[in-house]
Amino acid sequence: MKNIYGALCCGLALFTFGCATAPETEAPAPAEAPETPVVQEVQEVQPAPNSKASVTTKFFAKNKLGQTVMQYTLKGAGGVVMDVINYGGKVVRLYLPDKNGESKDCTLGFNDVAGYETVDPYFGSIIGRYGNRIANGLFVIDGVTYRLPTNNEPGGIPCCLHGGAAGWDTKIWNAEPFQNGDTVGVVFTTTSPDGDQGFPGKVEAKVTYTLTPENVWRIEYEAVPDKKTPINLTQHIYFNFNGEAEGTILDHELTLCCDKMTPVDAGLIPTGEITPVAGTPFDFTTPHKIGERVDTKGDKQLEYGNGYDHNFVLTNPSKNGELAQAAALYDEKSGRYMEVWTTEPGIQFYCGNFLTDKMVGKQGKAYQFRGGLALETQHYPDSPNQPNFPSTIVEPGQVYKTTTEYRFGTK
Ligand code: GAL
Repeated sequence: MKNIYGALCCGLALFTFGCATAPETEAPAPAEAPETPVVQEVQEVQPAPNSKASVTTKFFAKNKLGQTVMQYTLKGAGGVVMDVINYGGKVVRLYLPDKNGESKDCTLGFNDVAGYETVDPYFGSIIGRYGNRIANGLFVIDGVTYRLPTNNEPGGIPCCLHGGAAGWDTKIWNAEPFQNGDTVGVVFTTTSPDGDQGFPGKVEAKVTYTLTPENVWRIEYEAVPDKKTPINLTQHIYFNFNGEAEGTILDHELTLCCDKMTPVDAGLIPTGEITPVAGTPFDFTTPHKIGERVDTKGDKQLEYGNGYDHNFVLTNPSKNGELAQAAALYDEKSGRYMEVWTTEPGIQFYCGNFLTDKMVGKQGKAYQFRGGLALETQHYPDSPNQPNFPSTIVEPGQVYKTTTEYRFGTK
């Protein structure tokens, strides 16, 4: 695959939406989320004649509640293979061919559900209802204050991270594997009840993973609430193109098609500013190795994130639902290369600063600090509290719809 990332144009997409008004009423206490149905049967997918692609289903593990978690192996006709499970829609293994055609698992994760239940860096997960942080777990819609239980406190400052302690990454989703000729995938669906993790409204959600013969992993997110509520869905897969638990990602070369970013405070909450990256260690508008500037002394933003952990703003975001390129990642040694295309206006580049050797992966090897990176397409963090960010509020009955593609290849 060729890097079709061309010269970057400037052009700030600034959207202005209505401000949150002062709180008047308290939202009722969050309801207890009922159990999601447990999928147990093995659904066989009819293989397409003469196709190298296939989908197979098998038992993965039991979770701590004794529920069965299933695994779906998507074997792409182009060589990429992924194992995904219906617990959080997690990608547990991602086999990517290198420039010599040798495949290696290039994602972080665990062999069992217990790993995901005890250590939780959101490896490979669908994230909902709200990707990244909401300051103090509070927001106001139409004068009503909603209080989300907080589950994270960088810098000692509490917030709601990735949809809360029992976010969509911990749900057992209904799953329907499918094959259409050389294209394979899984459709995940779930219902998030009114009050789930403190959020208003019931939400019907559908996340479709498709693996194409061109080695594109497409993720289509759909969600329909029955009350006005914020929604911001993403995928939290961690990549290491050297292979799982094979050192750090500091030698990977990253391009971000983003000429601006949203700086954060000590709690990793956006300050509300949208600032140019030019002249800072955050300028990835041309390719740079991640390790080159990650430890720049005196850079307050890198200090807060303990490295890169920031939302970048696409220079040329999607128009009319067309995908726009957000990023490219390249590892010279293996030749593995990836582009990220999306309908979202932002992308969180997180270089694994919370990873430690206490996390032991699938090969029984400890992960390293910065042993994987995530490129999470999204609306900006804390948007419900940031009037100058694009709005994440979805109206009752409105269909929230976004698409992201991870396009794999070699160079
Ligand atoms: C990222 C977030 C990081 C960290 C990580 C999970 O999306 O930006 O700050 O919370 O998820 O460990």
